[in-house]
Amino acid sequence: MKADVLLGLQWGDEGKGKIVDVLTPRYDIIARFQGGPNAGHTIEFDNKKFVLHTIPSGIFNTGTINIIGNGVIIDPFILLREINKLKESNINVENNMLISKKAHLILPTHRLLDAVYENAKGKAKIGSTLKGIGPTYTDKTARNGIRIGNTTRPDFLKNYRELKGKHLQIVKSYGFDLGGFQLDGLDFKSYEEKWFSAIESIGDIEKIDSEYFINSSLNNNKSVLAEGAQGTMLDIDFGTYPYVTSSNTVAAGVCTGLGIAPNNVGEVFGIFKAYCTRVGSGPFFTELENEDGEKLRTEGKEFGSTTGRPRRCGWLDLAALKYSVMLNGVTKMFMMKADVMNGFSTIKAGTAYNFNGQKIDYIPFEASYENLEPVLEDMKGWKTNINDITKAEDMPAELAAYVKFIENETGVPIEMVSVGPDRKAIIQL
Ligand code: GDP
Ligand code: IMO
Ligand code: MG
Repeated sequence: MKADVLLGLQWGDEGKGKIVDVLTPRYDIIARFQGGPNAGHTIEFDNKKFVLHTIPSGIFNTGTINIIGNGVIIDPFILLREINKLKESNINVENNMLISKKAHLILPTHRLLDAVYENAKGKAKIGSTLKGIGPTYTDKTARNGIRIGNTTRPDFLKNYRELKGKHLQIVKSYGFDLGGFQLDGLDFKSYEEKWFSAIESIGDIEKIDSEYFINSSLNNNKSVLAEGAQGTMLDIDFGTYPYVTSSNTVAAGVCTGLGIAPNNVGEVFGIFKAYCTRVGSGPFFTELENEDGEKLRTEGKEFGSTTGRPRRCGWLDLAALKYSVMLNGVTKMFMMKADVMNGFSTIKAGTAYNFNGQKIDYIPFEASYENLEPVLEDMKGWKTNINDITKAEDMPAELAAYVKFIENETGVPIEMVSVGPDRKAIIQL
């Protein structure tokens, strides 16, 4: 079998968690391949709502194995909190979750460094989730990192103290000391103690050489879905650098983040919202800083799943969407949150940009620094409640036309239209 991939085509929060959950019954294994607890993936069913940060979104299907891959970075404190939250609803992850021994650890001091670096950037701050993501991937690349598999080795504490020592020197060089920091409402010392006891608590979860596990599963005809975090426009190489995250969020990340060879990748499912959002700083070409943007934010409850920050909102950006389709080799798309646009008489979508007096339909290098003014196309809104529709033939003509328009522009079929947060709120096309 080949592994399928599901990832975000915009700036994250597209609704990946919901669709992974919807597709999970079709798969034996769901595996996260990059990112860490900067992610917040929401799943809703039976009037219950869960937000997952590290645990793959297949966890609600008892027959499916969930793997945290080598490309993911793990904060044991946050992971344990997630596990305990699920336990309250009688979901025991120990039974169907495995962790790669090669996944890197987010140390408490990685979180401090994140805060220190953001502070030092002043006006140019990224708007990081401050979960220690950048500093942890930096240490991984610099070959200073500590991996999950190291936690049971005799030199773990020595490695920890050495790395912490290096971090504290950096913190000091920026003029800070430990005294002023709080992590999740705790002073550093208390947080560090809880972090260590969390490592013990997750000791029962099986740690594996996940690349072998996944490849032998594929060889034995088991189906695998790789779950992306963040979105293509936040990719470290192809996003709006430096306003990006620190991992490869594109399909290529599946190869390095799980050990799956490129010729073993099957379908690539691209998730996008019917409009656009971005949380944190950086270019956002179709952003609406007006009543329409406010309406999208209110109707779409566009506040971060991880940080609670209000998300910036704007029209769908088709030039950016086409860029994402190209980079990922998207084979099918899922359009999310169409219901949020129920109240709009006119819907707009960006199809190109004006840049230096020219009309272009690609994203040039300069886009990170200079404004690309969007060329917008108007379409008629459906102006009706679509939240209970489940069949394609019941879609209002304007929604069907919007779907067709996006399919024509991108050349990729849309498989489902999502019309509400619940698992069941889906129009199958
Ligand atoms: P993810 O990070 O890509 O998994 O997305 P998030 O969970 O951060 O954000 C998506 C938000 O939209 C969550 O609150 C979901 O419950 C919600 N959501 C998902 N699909 C739909 C939809 O079709 N309509 C509406 N109104 N909300 C949705
Ligand atoms: P999910 O998986 C939306 C954004 C942050 C910030 C930038 C860098 O839920 O879609 P980082 O903490 O990675 O150093 O932050 O990336 N960001 C996300 N935005 N959804 C996410 O994840 C995000 N993860 C990071 O807001 O602008
Ligand atoms: Mg999210």
